Formats: sequence, C-alpha cells, structure tokens
Amino acid sequence: MSDAPIIARKTPYRVDVAEGKSYFWCACGRSQNQPFCDGSHKGTGLVPVKYTAESDKKVFFCGCKHTGKAPLCDGTHSGLPD
Ligand code: FES
Ligand code: FES
Repeated sequence: MSDAPIIARKTPYRVDVAEGKSYFWCACGRSQNQPFCDGSHKGTGLVPVKYTAESDKKVFFCGCKHTGKAPLCDGTHSGLPD
C-alpha cells in the first residue's frame, strides 16, 4: 500500500472538542470514522496525529489530509486539483 495520504474529502470537519480531551486525527485518509483514526492506516507507513484540546471549542480538522498544519485545516484543500 502507498504511504501517500488519500483525500477523505476536500473540506474540513468541524468538531466540538472538549478541554483536556485527546483526539487522534486520521492522517492517511482511509479511516471510515473521519476525521479520526480507526486503525485503517495499518500498512501505509502513516500514523495518526494526536490533538489535545486546551479548551472547549470548535475546531476544523483537515479532511483533505494535505494540510501543512496537521491536524487542522490550513486552507490547502482549496488548491488541490479535482
Ligand atoms: Fe488514517 Fe489511522 S486510519 S491514520
Ligand atoms: Fe485539508 Fe483544509 S481540509 S487543508
């Protein structure tokens, strides 16, 4: 299997995160439980990225898996080819 991420979708996932809670963002794009890891990265060479919320808030997790600021969306998705 390739170690390149696949695009889960070209828009971020808005998630309400809870202070002190940790989340494991899917970096490979293969999880069926986006934007979080479900173990499907096995064999890809990719691993999830841990995110710990410092407060209760809404965050935008990257859905395209090409962000430069993983695990959060940095707008890179808008420049991806169709
Ligand atoms: Fe994608 Fe785990 S399923 S990083
Ligand atoms: Fe990936 Fe925005 S969804 S950079």
